[in-house]
Amino acid sequence: MVIVMAASSRTGVESHSWSKWQIALVVGAPVAIGLGYWYLKNSGSHSDKEKCQSGGKKKGSQVVQSTNNGSARGAGDVNSKSHQNETVDARKGSFDQAQDYKKEGNKHFKDGKFSDAIKCYNAAIEACPKDKVYDLSTFYQNRAAAYEQLGDYESAKNDCTLALQLNPVYVKALHRRAKAYELTKDLKSCLEDVTAACLLDHFQNQASIAMADRVLRELGQQHAKDAMAKRGPVIPSKHFVRTYFSSFNNDPITSQPDEPNKNEPVVNGETEPKRGFLLAKEALLKQRYHEIIPACTEEINSENSKYKMEALLLRGTFYLLRGEHNLVYQDLEKIIENESVDVKIRVNALIKRASLHMQKDDPMKTIQDFDRAAELGPHLSDVYHHRGQVYLLMDKVDEALADFRKAVDISPDFPIAYVQKCYADYRYANTQRDSEASKKALESFEIAIAKFPKCAECFTLYAQVLIEQQEYQKSDDCYKKAIEVDPENATLHVHRGLLQLNWNGNVDKAITYIKKALEMDDKCEFAYETLGTIEVQRGNFLAGVELFDKAIQLVKTELEMSHLFSLKDAAKAQAVVIEKYKIPIPTND
Ligand SMILES: *[C@@H]1O[C@H](CO)[C@@H](O)[C@H](O)[C@H]1NC(C)=O
Ligand SMILES: *[C@@H]1O[C@H](CO)[C@@H](O)[C@H](O)[C@H]1NC(C)=O
Ligand SMILES: *[C@@H]1O[C@H](CO)[C@@H](O)[C@H](O)[C@H]1NC(C)=O
Ligand SMILES: *[C@@H]1O[C@H](CO)[C@@H](O)[C@H](O)[C@H]1NC(C)=O
Repeated sequence: MVIVMAASSRTGVESHSWSKWQIALVVGAPVAIGLGYWYLKNSGSHSDKEKCQSGGKKKGSQVVQSTNNGSARGAGDVNSKSHQNETVDARKGSFDQAQDYKKEGNKHFKDGKFSDAIKCYNAAIEACPKDKVYDLSTFYQNRAAAYEQLGDYESAKNDCTLALQLNPVYVKALHRRAKAYELTKDLKSCLEDVTAACLLDHFQNQASIAMADRVLRELGQQHAKDAMAKRGPVIPSKHFVRTYFSSFNNDPITSQPDEPNKNEPVVNGETEPKRGFLLAKEALLKQRYHEIIPACTEEINSENSKYKMEALLLRGTFYLLRGEHNLVYQDLEKIIENESVDVKIRVNALIKRASLHMQKDDPMKTIQDFDRAAELGPHLSDVYHHRGQVYLLMDKVDEALADFRKAVDISPDFPIAYVQKCYADYRYANTQRDSEASKKALESFEIAIAKFPKCAECFTLYAQVLIEQQEYQKSDDCYKKAIEVDPENATLHVHRGLLQLNWNGNVDKAITYIKKALEMDDKCEFAYETLGTIEVQRGNFLAGVELFDKAIQLVKTELEMSHLFSLKDAAKAQAVVIEKYKIPIPTND
């Protein structure tokens, strides 16, 4: 079940609020059950009661213990005023005394007197017999809490470490040290501690889960940013480029009539080879994609260029497809800020820049560019169906629906907009809990399929909705049809594998489908990601890490990459924690 959420979030039309790393954490959860057993067996008589009863009295700044019968007892404590010899009782005496110091400390803590609390905990630690390890670890942990309150995170960390040396499965100390690591920006150490805390208390503590969420996100973003800056261009497959261009109904380059080389002289009965933009355009149509950027550059650098803006747009688009984001901005900006450029070209450039902002997780700029595009070209359906998809991603179903309606009104024969409107109708009906409207939306998918039997997207979106309806057989039939229509699309096989998991939990069959995707396209990053998630679920964390790494090499956007790094970091941290705490991994089979 959880895996499918990861998968569907990839399609860009799913509105679950689950982020991908959560899936990795949650699929790791069964491990915690095994751990619970281990913990019970090993934790012995550990008691962690930290009730604060005012068991002590304060004299000046000196803390004095008191016992039940009122007489002072204790040994080896600087504050002790007693003169007691070493009897059998002495050990117990100093232990009771330590407890009293702690209680006194807790009282100060409650009153917000943290420095005083620290003094009490100092005394408790000194008084406590060294073999009372669980109690000692509690005292250190309490002192850490007081240091934390004073903003002394280094001391807090040290005390947590001391507490954990005495009691390695002390969840409170792990959580507190994680907090200190987070505040001092040591996110890697933080992640390890908070993962241990989550696993040890079976994902019961919302604060730990929220911290893991924050840290994984931040680490993922950092790693993705670094990796994107370092890596070279990623060459997309021909199939990917084709699909990308087909998602535009008003593409100013492919929809432009092909112009013959009017002014080129004819040599030996053959036309002079094309150059510049005209060559780039031919290369686009004939799928010789590697020729495009150099040909556009030639056009852009030539004087009296007739197609400068077209060349900038096409080059910018290929930079976008190759993940070279800074270059994209440069090219598109020249178009967007030039008011004499053809509206279709400017609108297309704005849509592409908006999608880049979206990839960079900047929804405000995304919507700004879309709104500007809608103002410039209100008659162009591309604006609406692309903005509608973004609204769906942002869970703004009303806005999405309004946009898809406009897109379909303008271009009723553009299949992708049509079926996306069906999908938005379905989502909207769900948010309204309107079963009548939901039924109607489902019927509209059938109409879409009948109307556009060559559109794979019609089948795949319907297939997804059918999974939600638990109509698994029908969903599988849709995927089969989609594969017929779009036989080169490897991700369709991954989706079919995910359907198997949903349908009957058939992991082996799912893996068979996913491997088929990899046979077709060994750069299918969605296949690696999904396999990685399955491995994590089966407790094979390191195998998962390896697969996520493969996917990271292949993704095109920083946002996807940052999700993948989060998955990888989560899996890695779990592997480390499980090894460190010798947590037995239960077999799921
Ligand atoms: C109080 O403590 C003293 C010193 O350990 C002990 O001798 C005495 O019996 C205790 N009295 C009571 C009432 O427990
Ligand atoms: C300690 O006290 C006990 C009785 O409480 C006594 O018998 C013993 O001699 C004392 N030992 C010392 C070293 O004072
Ligand atoms: C393949 O199919 C999926 C699912 O419908 C779709 O999102 C994607 O755009 C298609 N094309 C490519 C190149 O992945
Ligand atoms: C703006 O666009 C026009 C029309 O395409 C073009 O002739 C002109 O050179 C462009 N200006 C700049 C500064 O690029």
